[in-house]
Amino acid sequence: MKLCMIGTGYVGLVSGVCFADLGNDVICIDRDIKKVEDLKKGIIPIYEPGLEELVLKNYKNKRLKFSTNLKDSIFKSDIIFICVGTPSKKNGNGADLSQIYNVAKEIRASISKFKIIITKSTVPVTTGDEIEKIISQKVSKKLFSVVSNPEFLREGEAIRDFTYPDRVVIGTTDKKSNKILKNLYLPLISKGTKYVNTSRRAAELIKYASNAFLATKITFINELANLCEKIDVNIQDISIGMGLDKRIGGRFLRAGPAYGGSCFPKDTKAIVTTADQFKINLSVIKSVIKSNENRSSLLIKRVFNILNGKVKNKKICFLGVTFKANTDDMRDSSSLLMIPSLHKMGAKINYFDPTGEKDDFKKLNNVHFSSNINFAIRESDLIIIHTEWNDFKSINFNNAVKNKKFIVFDMRNIYSPDKMKELKIKYFGVGR
Ligand SMILES: NC(=O)c1ccc[n+]([C@@H]2O[C@H](COP(=O)([O-])OP(=O)(O)OC[C@H]3O[C@@H](n4cnc5c(N)ncnc54)[C@H](O)[C@@H]3O)[C@@H](O)[C@H]2O)c1
Repeated sequence: MKLCMIGTGYVGLVSGVCFADLGNDVICIDRDIKKVEDLKKGIIPIYEPGLEELVLKNYKNKRLKFSTNLKDSIFKSDIIFICVGTPSKKNGNGADLSQIYNVAKEIRASISKFKIIITKSTVPVTTGDEIEKIISQKVSKKLFSVVSNPEFLREGEAIRDFTYPDRVVIGTTDKKSNKILKNLYLPLISKGTKYVNTSRRAAELIKYASNAFLATKITFINELANLCEKIDVNIQDISIGMGLDKRIGGRFLRAGPAYGGSCFPKDTKAIVTTADQFKINLSVIKSVIKSNENRSSLLIKRVFNILNGKVKNKKICFLGVTFKANTDDMRDSSSLLMIPSLHKMGAKINYFDPTGEKDDFKKLNNVHFSSNINFAIRESDLIIIHTEWNDFKSINFNNAVKNKKFIVFDMRNIYSPDKMKELKIKYFGVGR
């Protein structure tokens, strides 16, 4: 099939290359000229395991193309996926849909034969109705069908998640579009993926409801971790004991820093705003948002206590700054709150992240990037394990750190407290 992905970010690039790998002809469009030129040269704009090899392979065999020419690409394609960003509005709440509606206007200027137009971006319920309205102002409804096909891939696992998803959700009541899309996803369905056909509005809501539920699980266990710290109980025992109940499940039940990333923070806020518009109070999700926003301050307070209130001039090393491992994505990472706060309190911070230096910290004069782990931790008074990269799982702290009174604050509970005790390392975890 001939596909066009509008927006070549995490979702557009990953799903575009995976569709190409399944044998489709795919054009990935972006308005960012440099990004498109780089991709044509084999330079991949994001860090995502396995992505580079797959892009190079499919670009070489010409199933995958990159372009900035939206009009021409729409003309050549049967199915158009909208994969542009839907960030939070500047005032904080609700999704900013300007990129979506701009694309809808661009699409309507380029339709001459039947096209399926799909929102793969995460969009609030009724956005599909609005896109249909915008396009039908200039184009006959017989020439297009607007479908919702939300994407559930996780950064860091994106290729595996796209290729082996738990489910594909297609929101449409149009039989013709449903048949074509079922065919597009047939290679995944035949390997066991469940195909769920719903109304367009239901598909839009499934995505937000799923993210809000996962955010709730994380927040739930984070709050329980606070209790565990007071009562000498290990939160990991609670996660295992609860997670083995199939009705609950063990995933997203691990205590740590506040949830971050490009989806959960913005999507929880957006679903609450949507519900408010319909005068429905999603009080559970509202509490989750509040609790998560408090979590970074709570952990900063914990750092303050670990250092006995003496943060000024302390050398603090952050291991990992991205919101999770195996991605270079910094959007809404809790390190963006913690590092500037500790810097403001007078700490001297350096950090190491396998995906390199981050622009976000360049303006802070006492925050520096180190290019390897041992160098990063050598002079530290306090080492904070912020992101669960494999690189941080077997560090010989006693050999690497000069100051023999160093402390480790393991926000991901990677290390065993007993082992650290044996090694005479002053060690703190989360919820234990
Ligand atoms: N990142 C994830 O893990 C993930 C997972 C599932 C769903 N989503 C959703 O998918 C959507 C995209 O997320 P992302 O992380 O890929 O975003 P992104 O910011 O990485 O990529 C969006 C791309 O769209 C391009 N773009 C914007 N307007 C354009 C236009 N008019 N024409 C051409 N290109 C245009 C931008 O230049 C950018 O490259 C969001 O709604 C997000 O919530 C993201």
